[in-house]
Amino acid sequence: MEQSTQWWKNSVVYQIYPRSFNDSNGDGIGDLEGIIEKLDYLVELGIDVIWLSPIYKSPNDDNGYDISDYQDIMTEFGDLETWDRLITTMHEKGLKLVMDLVVNHTSDEHPWFQEAKKSKDNPYRDFYIWRPPNEEGKEPNNWLSFFSGSAWEYHEPTGEYYLHLFTKKQPDLNWENPDVRQKVYEMMRWWLDRGVDGFRMDVINLISKVEGLPDAPVTKPEDEFQWGSDYFANGPRFMEFMQEMKEEVLDHYDILTVGETGFVTPEEGKQFTNEDSGVLSMLFQFQHMDVDAQPGGQMGKWEEKDWKLTELKEIMSKWQVELFNKGWNSLYLENHDQPRSVSRFGDDGEYHAESAKMLATWLHMMQGTPYVYQGQEIGMTNVHFPSIDDYEDVEIRNLWQDMVVEKGHDPDKILKAIHEKGRDNARTPMQWDSSENAGFTSGTPWLKVNPNYDQINVEKERENSDSIFHYYKKLIALRKEHEVIVNGDHSLIWQEDEEVYAYKREHEGETLVVVTNWTGETIERPWPEDVSFDGASVMIHNYSGAPDASKEGITLRPYEAVVYHQK
Ligand code: NOJ
Repeated sequence: MEQSTQWWKNSVVYQIYPRSFNDSNGDGIGDLEGIIEKLDYLVELGIDVIWLSPIYKSPNDDNGYDISDYQDIMTEFGDLETWDRLITTMHEKGLKLVMDLVVNHTSDEHPWFQEAKKSKDNPYRDFYIWRPPNEEGKEPNNWLSFFSGSAWEYHEPTGEYYLHLFTKKQPDLNWENPDVRQKVYEMMRWWLDRGVDGFRMDVINLISKVEGLPDAPVTKPEDEFQWGSDYFANGPRFMEFMQEMKEEVLDHYDILTVGETGFVTPEEGKQFTNEDSGVLSMLFQFQHMDVDAQPGGQMGKWEEKDWKLTELKEIMSKWQVELFNKGWNSLYLENHDQPRSVSRFGDDGEYHAESAKMLATWLHMMQGTPYVYQGQEIGMTNVHFPSIDDYEDVEIRNLWQDMVVEKGHDPDKILKAIHEKGRDNARTPMQWDSSENAGFTSGTPWLKVNPNYDQINVEKERENSDSIFHYYKKLIALRKEHEVIVNGDHSLIWQEDEEVYAYKREHEGETLVVVTNWTGETIERPWPEDVSFDGASVMIHNYSGAPDASKEGITLRPYEAVVYHQK
């Protein structure tokens, strides 16, 4: 079956990080039963699809992104019987389910790796990427792992190193081996035949590495290991492997596929997602997430960078314009790896609600499939735990070990960077109500709850008709009512403005003008000549009362957002 219906173009996706969503049995860890309990909440929000971060068997070195059995459920989360009930209930309620597909690597506890370790001539040896030590008896190359330190781990008994782009408990699979690919396709079909509606493909564009695995260029001479993404991202056989996966699996089901693809440009995005020769429904690009990071790969995110609104405009409008009619965007500001957007791009103090709604308006009025990350719809914020011991994330812990313990960097500076960019910002338990532990668990939560749960929680947000939650509901509903949101083109207004982000969407005589103030100040702007408001109505607005606008211009209050509609 060709992917002809493209239902995912009109859909809104909600991402659940199961460990932190809702704990039904008091062990402090979210679970599948907990998700079932909250499905009606998600129906009320109006979303169409749930993307579940990994729920497979895993020793949890990287919270499930290290899988030891692709065809079974993590014990803490439930079992296959509960999963079947989850998907059946979801389908009955009109919700679709997208699963995480993590096939760049497995856990080192996966039976394939357990076999591969046994000897150099084990049939599974070639499922992974092994190399002998170099002439100096050291790592085969200088690649830095995403999570600090070398990307190679020495295996003493067989005298070789294996490659792990993430933690040493996440060995990279060898996609050059056709048996690996067939095993992955088989597993994908098994889930699809069981009813899943799509896959979010974890770091999928890392599956093909440059032949010979050459050393990365030395950009940081003071460091032992160097950033090698030129040699492992969008590698030479990536499109070939994906075409094969498409022919063998994807084309036979009417599903949503979204590739997590760092290091891609709009040109590559077009290539990967176009309807004729593309391989994915859509992808997650990272350029807008890198706007406040220093260059230099994964480590750059920890270094502060002043950024300008015009830089964000340039990135976003390039994706919007380039993919128009040629590919498909996904729209996101948050996920389980990113800090909370209201803290990062808005104001999580005085203008918390205004700025959370402004960011939502700005994102949801663009072209693409919007993703809402759990808690984003109630404006959950970053957390500032006082001690490194309060953090659980392996990326954070490895960073601390490398930078503070081994290299002696200033602990306060590193803790500050963790407060700003650490992944646990997104992973604190979902805040359901103001009871103990935010109603997430009756036990001890695996990661502490953000102390602001008595102020920010679902119960409060639902009660207040002017809340961020109700605003999200409106935005999601509007997408279903107005074709221009799904199909309109995109052009910037006031391109050079560093405070106001405004854009226009047009489709068959219907126009949207989206105006958002990214500052805590009141600012005035005269309308540009090519924007006409004859007969325009306000579609959505994050302040009560009418916007302060005339034929001549508009006065925007702090973080004000307004969408004008004309038909
Ligand atoms: C990307 C995932 O989103 C992240 O959480 C994970 O640590 C890495 N891939 C490795 O699987």
